[in-house]
Amino acid sequence: MTFWDFCAPVYDFFERRNDAYAKMLAIVDRLIPADAAVLDAATGTGSVGLAAAANAKSVLCTDLSARMLKKAKKKAAGRGVRNVEFAQKDIFDLGGGIYDVVIASQVLHLLDDPAGAAAELRRVAADAENSGQVFCVLG
Ligand SMILES: C[S@@+](CC[C@H](N)C(=O)[O-])C[C@H]1O[C@@H](n2cnc3c(N)ncnc32)[C@H](O)[C@@H]1O
Repeated sequence: MTFWDFCAPVYDFFERRNDAYAKMLAIVDRLIPADAAVLDAATGTGSVGLAAAANAKSVLCTDLSARMLKKAKKKAAGRGVRNVEFAQKDIFDLGGGIYDVVIASQVLHLLDDPAGAAAELRRVAADAENSGQVFCVLG
């Protein structure tokens, strides 16, 4: 079991008491353009991805931790959110999709190679100059 698998059962307990986190979720909710395809990389228990889902056309929530993803899926089901999917993926290898908005919240500072992760996030973000779409990294 990884550190983040171990944290999964208690992660939301602590974030619910974090005012800055609640404000960040409200900002994400407002920032997502209507009909955007969104990637929330290293989603944890999915709070940011689910905030994005209110306006987005679709959201893919990815994380390395199977237990974090299990919590995220349960949260989405409990809220009746239907435009979110989940996949176990390393932030350094996000696969073939291209997204209008790419979010990585509270993770880059935890990684050995944050610049490498940022490059991978940029790779899967739609070209901002040509399409006017958004590339976003928080925290
Ligand atoms: C502090 S939590 C942030 C979760 C969520 N983004 C949020 O803001 O609440 C960090 C998350 O990054 C994930 N993570 C750490 N290293 C990762 C990697 N290399 N690839 C994908 N996810 C990773 C952990 O499993 C954990 O869920």
